[in-house]
Amino acid sequence: MNLHGRHLLALDDYTRDEITYLLDLSAELKRLKRSGIRPRNLEGKSIALIFEKPSTRTRCAFVVACVDEGAHPEYLGKGDIQLGKKETVADTARVLGRMFDGIQFRGYKHETVEQLAEYAGVPVWNGLTDKYHPTQVLADFLTIQEHLGGLKGIGLSFVGDGRNNMANTLLIGAAKMGMDFRIVAPKSLFPEKEIVDAGKKFAKESGAKITITDDVKTGVKGADVIYTDVWASMGEEAELTARIKLLKPYQVNMSMMKATGKTNPIFLHCLPAFHNNDTEASKQIGPMEVTDDVFESSMSKVFDEAENRMHTIKAVMVATLGR
Ligand code: CP
Ligand code: NVA
Repeated sequence: MNLHGRHLLALDDYTRDEITYLLDLSAELKRLKRSGIRPRNLEGKSIALIFEKPSTRTRCAFVVACVDEGAHPEYLGKGDIQLGKKETVADTARVLGRMFDGIQFRGYKHETVEQLAEYAGVPVWNGLTDKYHPTQVLADFLTIQEHLGGLKGIGLSFVGDGRNNMANTLLIGAAKMGMDFRIVAPKSLFPEKEIVDAGKKFAKESGAKITITDDVKTGVKGADVIYTDVWASMGEEAELTARIKLLKPYQVNMSMMKATGKTNPIFLHCLPAFHNNDTEASKQIGPMEVTDDVFESSMSKVFDEAENRMHTIKAVMVATLGR
């Protein structure tokens, strides 16, 4: 498999075999790191990390993956560079492309990461846009494989804001990988037709099943994995009060985990999560998308998932840029 020089903007552009290859490479790099071996596949490379939005996992995963593999990561935060203010995306892309060997972008508009890719002349990786979060879904799939032995036929229910970047990316990824994927959300938060149509097309080729429902009971029945995300994504904070009202029946709690009918369902969340009232943002409101008992239970694999961000992001950089 040769992915050299490729961008990773969306999973739409990757075949089932290419996704499998990236997951296998992630598992191999994870194994090597655990045995103390750093192959330094990115020796001498310089990587630009552009962040318009905050990040813990994605930023740290890119930085540690770069250092493990011998590359130099350069963090370019909001307010640090001219992008979008004094300089166009196209000009920024052409400048960074002359200096760096690869560029990560996290931000608002998906068109920005597409434009960077068009003009940079080096691989561009999407570290989250309003539309997609592909590196997260690679980590989610690696985690599911580790705990459930594979992806094909696995029942995966995404419960909550069914039209956010996580829902969109999981829908496309699950459709490619032949999963039994469900979006469980109020009708007003169903995914856009363009995403559902793309997912259905991929599902036809892979044998995946795609269900979009507002009924929690049918949506989670038979699911091996219950996945949720924050109720208001970065940039949508003003929606939070309305979302809390709308999404309360979709909160992941013990009775929802039981309603899967499975003996050992697992719980995933891309994080950060509002599962208690211990953070500044959740102090007044308390747990939102998931209750603390589920989050802290043995069903919860969220920290394996967070660790896997690093191994999968490393695999993406090594596959598209490594020697
Ligand atoms: N899951 C995720 O992308 O986390 P960060 O926002 O911390 O990068
Ligand atoms: N949907 C969330 C994902 C965070 C990793 C957001 O965009 O804020």
